[in-house]
Amino acid sequence: MSAILPPSDRLWWKQPIDKVEWAWIGIAFVWGMIMFVMMIYWHIYGKQNLSNEAYKTSPEMFAAKAEKFIAENTVRTETEQQIPVVKVPAGGDGYLIARLWAWYPILELEKGQTYKIHLSSMDYNHGFSLQPVNINIQVIPGYEHVVKMTPTKEGTYAIVCNEYCGIGHHSMLGRIYVK
Ligand code: CUA
Repeated sequence: MSAILPPSDRLWWKQPIDKVEWAWIGIAFVWGMIMFVMMIYWHIYGKQNLSNEAYKTSPEMFAAKAEKFIAENTVRTETEQQIPVVKVPAGGDGYLIARLWAWYPILELEKGQTYKIHLSSMDYNHGFSLQPVNINIQVIPGYEHVVKMTPTKEGTYAIVCNEYCGIGHHSMLGRIYVK
């Protein structure tokens, strides 16, 4: 026995390790190794772990790229706020801006095509949760997150911010159409 005794002589680390302690160290080590292998396994075979890349950027640099993308690919506007609906070129790059308190613009994708969707925040930490599919990533200012997606089903997908970002957090929504 060592760690479970009071450190009265202050040399508890010189006490021999008990069998029970070795057993727990062994269990923790083996479980740690299993978890380590599972991490790699799920990355390759699991459906919930998204492979994404992240690059350093600045809000200004990212906004410039997003605005260029919006200017070149907008097909119409929606709602009274005239939110642009932007058709991402098949196999190409789409940009989404997160800021207090909206996801901008609306993207339009085609079923079966693969896209690179770039995400960044203009201000604080936001969340990109794509409903009803199980995609959920954090979007951090100063980083450009690049997510590869291939939509398999037509429909209207909602983007919900799920990182608390202030008074308007609950209204921070966005939309992706898949046609
Ligand atoms: Cu953005 Cu919560």
